Amino acid sequence: MSNTFPFVRPRRLRQNDRIRGLVRETHLNVEQLIYPVFIAEGISEPREISSMPGIMQWPLEMIGREAQRIAELGIPGLLLFGIPNEKDEVGSQAYAEHGVIQEAIQRIKAASPETLVITDVCLCEYTSHGHCGVLHNGNVQNDETLDLLSEMALSHVAAGADIVAPSDMMDGRVGALRHALDEHGYQQTPIMAYSVKYASGFYGPFREAAGSAPQFGDRRAYQMDPANVREALRELEQDIAEGADMVMVKPALSYLDVIRQVRDHCDLPLAAYNVSGEYSMVKAAAQLGWIDEQRIVMEMLTSIRRAGADIIITYFAPEVAQWLKG
Ligand code: PBG
Repeated sequence: MSNTFPFVRPRRLRQNDRIRGLVRETHLNVEQLIYPVFIAEGISEPREISSMPGIMQWPLEMIGREAQRIAELGIPGLLLFGIPNEKDEVGSQAYAEHGVIQEAIQRIKAASPETLVITDVCLCEYTSHGHCGVLHNGNVQNDETLDLLSEMALSHVAAGADIVAPSDMMDGRVGALRHALDEHGYQQTPIMAYSVKYASGFYGPFREAAGSAPQFGDRRAYQMDPANVREALRELEQDIAEGADMVMVKPALSYLDVIRQVRDHCDLPLAAYNVSGEYSMVKAAAQLGWIDEQRIVMEMLTSIRRAGADIIITYFAPEVAQWLKG
């Protein structure tokens, strides 16, 4: 038998860095990282989010500088989240002409024109009840919410956003946004659809960061059940039919199998969101000296790419960009 040991020795190709580099199958590239940023109205200094060490809420006055810093690291884009001063039942500040995100987009574009600005299109940071849509008798109203999401997306693009990313998981939102954008002359604006977004405990720290925890109940009536993957493929097909240009799976690490299935099922560019809880757990263990942070982060992000994601949205982006430079 020549096709087995001792003739075959897989260790031959693991002998040194050069050989390992030659046969490496998966690569992490800074061009494929997106960095989420939080912009808060009514603050004058950056405010660190206690459950996400190193991640800030930025005042509007400073977001241009921060965008430049990120661009200089080679990171192509930002995903923006806004924290408004005032919230109401219908999330009016989400689609206000001078809302926090609309203002932030203009400042980022003025300071760093090459930065790709992607906006989160979802009402939860702007509603007094913290749900992602309009409520009637405690129920999130799907079709009424679509009109507000369309207004929100239009106001972002009018302010200069390059890509809109609907994350609310209402039915029909991708189609609604596509129609609204096209009707207003924005045929060239891509939609990055959070097609497969689970109702996940891993969003915990984000809700502190964005002040968006629901005041009652949870999001299980619109986000997906973590137990389901066939449903993920149905969501995916809907969003593709409605005109999604890119799709997303979120969270990433507990859903690597979902990323793989989505990758095998469609040819659209696929993003994975390495969410707040995934970040905070690593930071906490690293602070305790229990893990080697750099090694673990690189391994995690590589696993997301190996599962099939093209783009990774991650709070680790600036650190990874520096590590990749070596
Ligand atoms: C909704 C939104 C959420 C996240 C991104 N967009 C929170 C949620 O659905 O509750 C979570 C991101 C993270 O945890 O890092 N606006």
